[in-house]
Amino acid sequence: MSRPDDDYRWPHKHLLGLEDLTPADLRHILRTARGLEDVSTRSVKKVPALRGKVVVNLFFEDSTRTRASFHLAASRLSADVLEFSAKGSSVAKGETLRDTARNIEAMGIDAIVVRHQQSGAPHQLARSVQCSVINAGDGQHEHPTQGLLDIYTVARRLGRDDFDLTGITVAIVGDIAHSRVARSNVHGLRKLGAGVVLVGPTTLLPRGFADMGCELSHDLDEVLPRVDVVNMLRVQFERLQSQAFPSVREYSRFFGLTVKRMEKAKREVIVMHPGPINRGIEVESAVADGPNSAVLAQVANGLAVRMAALYLTTGVNAGVNTGGNA
Ligand code: NCD
Repeated sequence: MSRPDDDYRWPHKHLLGLEDLTPADLRHILRTARGLEDVSTRSVKKVPALRGKVVVNLFFEDSTRTRASFHLAASRLSADVLEFSAKGSSVAKGETLRDTARNIEAMGIDAIVVRHQQSGAPHQLARSVQCSVINAGDGQHEHPTQGLLDIYTVARRLGRDDFDLTGITVAIVGDIAHSRVARSNVHGLRKLGAGVVLVGPTTLLPRGFADMGCELSHDLDEVLPRVDVVNMLRVQFERLQSQAFPSVREYSRFFGLTVKRMEKAKREVIVMHPGPINRGIEVESAVADGPNSAVLAQVANGLAVRMAALYLTTGVNAGVNTGGNA
């Protein structure tokens, strides 16, 4: 079958969000990840694609998985990696994001991977530096590589090698309001043809998501039997301005994925969670570790997706445009 994006060429210097990417961009980055997946299973887990390049991990918010994953991804492409945390740096002395980034860039950097509590910070950075910028999570806005790795995991599990998700329905459950993971997933999933149902309490489920082509629901028990994937989000306690639900116990009763509730789901339903999991709140341990869980596959796939993101934005054939995602 001839593909519409056969002569496609990746045009983007930065990866700031999935909102501005086209379906062809998404398919290309996912296919690139597929091509790089095997590197991690070899005895020598390295390819020379980014030899001589320098990648900086610039993290202003806590991270375990994402930071380690970007570090390993860059190493597997043979790039040098510099780790930078706001804590213990001059940021603690009041240096601005722009100054910090420009000073780091002066050391000859090819890509900055940035996580920041402020939505839009990576976009601002992309306007003030020459190197590539990859968003590793900005406030409540986007987390593009998490969205990509979630989509990659769904497609691989369901044997959708062309990354066309037509006919698949994904439920994203929980604290939608504060979730950059939800936003990136919605943009990516919708563009690749999947249906999306967002489930959560009224206080954590902004009506605006309906404009992004999503169905909204407050009833997990009704939604569960008709979806192929259930992506459980962490309650972002650190971002809650006021009490969003009466109690944690009440939240779990309505929105927690328990063994009992799983009886209502399709037998093959894929259970996902971006981590870190609040075990017993959004997912019961027996479900998180159970046969339907793709949680560890998500982590493994994250490496391939981040290798693809670094390779496409920073490698020899990297995108040359600037501005927005370009
Ligand atoms: C997510 C994040 O930081 O946005 N985690 C992650 O990147 N693995 C989700 C979360 O913190 O709940």
